[in-house]
Amino acid sequence: MSENTAPVPEVDVESTPLLKVRGLTTAFKSSGAMTNIIEGIDFNLYPHETLAIVGESGCGKSVTSLSIMRLIQSPGKIVGGSVELEGTDLLQLSEEEMRGVRGNKVSMIFQEPMTSLNPVFTVGSQVMESFQIHQHLSKPEAREKTIEMLRLVGIPAPETVFKEYPHELSGGLRQRVMIAMALACRPRVLIADEPTTALDVTIQAQILRLLRELMDETGTATILITHDLGVVAQIATYVMVMYAGQAVEYGSVRQIIEDPLHPYTLGLLQCLPRLHEKTDRLFTIPGAVPSPDSYPAGCRFCPRCNRACERCRDERPPLMELPDGRRVRCWLYADAEGAVDVSTAAPKGGESA
Ligand SMILES: Nc1ncnc2c1ncn2[C@@H]1O[C@H](COP(=O)(O)OP(=O)(O)OP(=O)(O)O)[C@@H](O)[C@H]1O
Ligand SMILES: [Mg+2]
Repeated sequence: MSENTAPVPEVDVESTPLLKVRGLTTAFKSSGAMTNIIEGIDFNLYPHETLAIVGESGCGKSVTSLSIMRLIQSPGKIVGGSVELEGTDLLQLSEEEMRGVRGNKVSMIFQEPMTSLNPVFTVGSQVMESFQIHQHLSKPEAREKTIEMLRLVGIPAPETVFKEYPHELSGGLRQRVMIAMALACRPRVLIADEPTTALDVTIQAQILRLLRELMDETGTATILITHDLGVVAQIATYVMVMYAGQAVEYGSVRQIIEDPLHPYTLGLLQCLPRLHEKTDRLFTIPGAVPSPDSYPAGCRFCPRCNRACERCRDERPPLMELPDGRRVRCWLYADAEGAVDVSTAAPKGGESA
C-alpha cells in the first residue's frame, strides 16, 4: 500500500485506451520528393481487444505497424501524429527509451520472421531470454516454460528445436518461434503482421487460440494485420480497412462483416470464398492499388469503384463518423443523417475515457 495520502483519481482501466494513435503519417522518398505512404491514421486500442487491419497488398498495413514500433528505416520518416502508449507518446521518446519499449511493452511478430531472430544464438536461448527478462523466471523455470511454449505454438519435438539455430529451421517453424518469443514477453500490445499466413490451417487455428488465451489472461491488446477475413471474423473486435495509405472504413467486426458501407470493403468481402459454393473463379476487384506517387485527385478508390460519380473523381472524400460510431471515407455517406466530418478529429471513444 502506498503511504501517499494524496487523492488518487479513479481510472477505469478497462475503458482507458492502451494505445491511442492520432493522425499517424509516414513518408518515403519517391522520385526525389517525400510522399506520404500512410496518412492520418487514427484509432484507439483497449485492453483485451483486437484491431484487425485489412486491405490489399501495398495499402500501408506494414508501414502502419512499423511506424507504431518506430522501425521505419531512413529515408522513410514519420512526419506527423502521435502514438500514445499508456499516456506516453512513443514518437517523443529517445531511441534508447524506445528500445526499452520494443519487445517489452509492445512486441511484434514480423511478416519476415528471419530478420528478427539472432542467427548466432540457439532458438531455445532466445525464447528463454524473453521468459527470464519479462517474467523474472529462474533458468530451469524459463527452460521448462520455453519448451512448453514451443509445443503450444505447434512445434513438433520442441526439445530438439530448442537446441537448433534459426537457419536450421523451415520458414514455418521460424515463424512459430517468433510467435513463441513475442508471447513470452507478455506485452501490453502485440502487433502481429500476417502471423499465420504461411502456416497450415490447423496450426493457424492453434496459434489464434493461443493469442486469445494470452489476451484473456493478461489483457494484452492485439493489432492483427491480415488478408484473411475469415480470421478477422474469428478474432477481431474492431476492423480498420485501409486503402492506398488511408483508413477508408473503421467499425466493429460485426458492422464491417455484416453491413459493410465502403464499396472497397464490400469488394474485399466479395473476394472471400463462400463455404459450400462451387465457383471456378474467385471474385477480384478489378484494377490495382495506385502507387503513392500517382494517387488520383479525388477519391483514391474512384478508378476501381462501381459506384463512383463526378464528385468522387474531383474531390477527396472526408472521413465521416456515423451515429453508430463507425467511420467511412466515401462521398456516398457524406450527407447521411447525423454524419459528422472527423477528418481531423480524434475517434470518439478515446476522448471520453
Ligand atoms: N522502404 C520503403 N521505401 C519506399 N516505399 C515503401 C517502403 N516500404 C513500403 N513502401 C511502399 O509503401 C506502400 C505500403 O507498403 P506496405 O508494406 O505497408 O503494404 P502492406 O499493406 O503491408 O502490403 P502487404 O499486404 O503486401 O504486406 C507500398 O506502396 C510500398 O511500395
Ligand atoms: Mg505488409
